[in-house]
Amino acid sequence: MSTKGNIMETYGRFNVIFDKGIGCKLYDSNGREYMDMVSGVAVNCLGHSSPVIAKAIEEQAKKVIHISNYFYNTNAIELTEKLCSQSDHEAVFFCNSGTEAMEAAIKVGRKYGKVKGGEAKDTIIHMENSFHGRTIGALSVTGQYKYQKDYMPLMGGVQSVKMNDLEDIKDKMNENVCAVLIEPIQGEGGINSASAEYLQCVKDLCEEYDALLIFDEIQCGIGRTGSLFAYQNFNVIPDVIAMAKGLGGGFPIGAVMTNERANVLQPGDHGSTFGGNPLACAVSLAVLTELVDGGIIAGIEEKSRYFKAKLGKLKSKYSFITEVKGMGFLIGLAMDIDVKAFSSKCFENKILVATAGKDVIRLLPPLNITLSEIDEVVKLLDEVMEEISKEVSEETKSGM
Ligand SMILES: Cc1ncc(COP(=O)(O)O)c(C=O)c1O
Repeated sequence: MSTKGNIMETYGRFNVIFDKGIGCKLYDSNGREYMDMVSGVAVNCLGHSSPVIAKAIEEQAKKVIHISNYFYNTNAIELTEKLCSQSDHEAVFFCNSGTEAMEAAIKVGRKYGKVKGGEAKDTIIHMENSFHGRTIGALSVTGQYKYQKDYMPLMGGVQSVKMNDLEDIKDKMNENVCAVLIEPIQGEGGINSASAEYLQCVKDLCEEYDALLIFDEIQCGIGRTGSLFAYQNFNVIPDVIAMAKGLGGGFPIGAVMTNERANVLQPGDHGSTFGGNPLACAVSLAVLTELVDGGIIAGIEEKSRYFKAKLGKLKSKYSFITEVKGMGFLIGLAMDIDVKAFSSKCFENKILVATAGKDVIRLLPPLNITLSEIDEVVKLLDEVMEEISKEVSEETKSGM
C-alpha cells in the first residue's frame, strides 16, 4: 500500500504505516516493532490498546453514542464532576480537540472583558514561543511567526510577551487586558517551564487589572507532569484551564474548565455539535478514573526521576546533549546537533521520538510505562547516540 494516497500533505511524516499498538509499542504494516515515545503527541496516556479504553468504548457504543447538546447526558455530568472534584474549578465546556479548547478559552476571556470593562477590555496577552493550535483564534495567540505567516490577517487584540520576564509583562499589562494566556510548560516550543514565581506574579497582575489567567494544559495537563493538572505543581490556580490530548487517551475530546469568576458564558454564547457526547465522555471518565484512582499519576514522579537519572547518564556520556529538562513524563533532551536528523536516526533504530523547538528531542511516554520499558528506551537511545557520536568524531577527524 502507498503511504501517501491522496491525503493532503500538511504534515512532514515518516514513510511508515502503523496498524497495531500495544502499551508503548507500535507495529508497522510489515510487523516491525517500534518503541513509541511520541504517544500520539502526549495523547495515549494509557498506552496503545488499553483494555480500559476498549471496554469503555464497547460498553458505551452499545448504549448511546451521540445525542446533541439540546439534552443532558449522564457521562458528561459525571465527567464534569470528576474534573471539578480534582481541581479548584466549577464549570466545564466540552469540545473535541486542543485548538477548539483554546477557541473556547479565548471566548471566555473576551466575554469576561466585555462584562467587566466594556468594548475596550479586549486584549489577550500571550507568551513568545508558545503553541496553542492551528485554528485562526488559537493561531493568533501562538507566539511563533512560522505558523502564522501565511495566514495573515489574524485575530487582533493580542499582545505577546517574553515568558519568565516580569518587566515585559508589567510594561504591557493595563486595564484593557481581559486575559493572560500561558502554557505552564511550553511543549511544542521546546519544553520550557514557567517559573512558579513568574506564574504567581502574573496571577497577581491579573488580579490587579481584573483579567483572567488562562493556562493551556493541552499538552502538559492530564497527569503528564505527575499531577492531574500542571498548575498543581506550581501552586498557582488559573481561572481557566484548556485541556485535550490525554483527556481521552486517544479518543478525541477537549475541554475548558473555569472557576466561578470566569464562568461567564451563557446559553447561545458557544457550542460544538460533538462536544461532550456520551461516548467521548465515557472514555474520558474511564481514562481519568484509571489515572487518578488506579494510582498511575501517583507513580509518575518516581518513574520520571528514574528515567531522568538514566538520561542524565547519557548526557554525561555524549557531549552533544546539553540539557535534560521537563517535568514528569514531559521530558526534553536539548542537543547541539540537528534534532530532525536525530529523530530520523531514532526511527531507523525503531524508537519514535518527537522534536520540540529548534534543538530539543521530546520524550512523551505513556503514563503507565514500566521501569523495564524505560530501560529499553534508554538502551535504544544509547545505541542511536553512540552511532551519532562516532559519525561526529569521524567528521571531526576528516576535518569536515
Ligand atoms: C499546548 C498546546 N495547545 C494546543 C494544541 C492544539 O491541540 P490540537 O492539535 O488538539 O488542536 C497543542 C497541540 O500540540 C498543544 O501542544
